[in-house]
Amino acid sequence: MNETIRIIENLKTVRNFSDRNIPKEHLSVILKSCVNAATASARQTYSIIVVDDKEVMKEIGYVGSIMLVFCVDYNRVIDAAEYLGFQYKQGIPIVDFITGSTDTILAAQTAAIVGKSLGIDSFFSNCVHRGNIDRMYKLLNLPEKYCFPLITLLLGYSDEKKSKLTKKGRLSGPGIIHFHKYQRLNNQGLENIVLEYDSKEKHFLSLIDDWREKGYNHYLEYFYEKWCGCLRQDEKNEYQIKANNSYNQVEEMLIKTGFLSDDIHRKTPAK
Ligand SMILES: Cc1cc2nc3c(=O)[nH]c(=O)nc-3n(C[C@H](O)[C@H](O)[C@H](O)COP(=O)(O)O)c2cc1C
Repeated sequence: MNETIRIIENLKTVRNFSDRNIPKEHLSVILKSCVNAATASARQTYSIIVVDDKEVMKEIGYVGSIMLVFCVDYNRVIDAAEYLGFQYKQGIPIVDFITGSTDTILAAQTAAIVGKSLGIDSFFSNCVHRGNIDRMYKLLNLPEKYCFPLITLLLGYSDEKKSKLTKKGRLSGPGIIHFHKYQRLNNQGLENIVLEYDSKEKHFLSLIDDWREKGYNHYLEYFYEKWCGCLRQDEKNEYQIKANNSYNQVEEMLIKTGFLSDDIHRKTPAK
């Protein structure tokens, strides 16, 4: 195993950070390196807000030594076009939001890997979409149009007293990797996955380890019922997932920022 593989295999979510600060030179390396990730048409349709104020981090959701807020952002691209006397596209089609999100996430994951290579722990969170998303725009002075906070990456050093570092569970076989053609799992394949999630050797959702004590036979039963809010199929509303306000809020913000058309949204038949 080479050093790069070892670093990637050792990536692990750390939720409690010590007070130790990240050296400025290391932060600078992380920022310079992460923008080397692949980017569609070399547009880099993202902005990275570097937050070092712990009060601001707290209002966003979690506190580390540094928080990087990765936003899908077309403002720089639009402004440069206008500066040169061009009109950028009339609106940003959804495909550009998808492409911009891809650029953004590639840069974010690269930052986590570079951080780990420097001994810095990390924690991704989509807390930006919980609570009132407007706070993100106010706290960080984000442009109201064509800018959407996608993910935060907290960086710092694990507070070993508080952090419960568990093993890392990931599926890596059938159902995830499909050679040649997509193959839907049959019942045996699904059973194997259910048992793999139960394995004490692996630890899938590192926050949760007491599902057995809670009376569940399988981790995934706990996951679907308690984590996702799914009803059992024999319950009246057949696997209806409980309404989640934050999804509506994200859709509304995508419309407000100009990434999602209100018309298209309204024409979409209700499910
Ligand atoms: C998009 C995304 C959002 C996440 N949001 C949260 C979060 O809000 N709170 C949290 O505790 N963990 C969050 N996580 C971390 C995952 O829970 C974690 O990666 C998962 O439990 C697997 O643990 P591991 O990374 O240590 O292997 C998030 C991860 C991703 C990729």
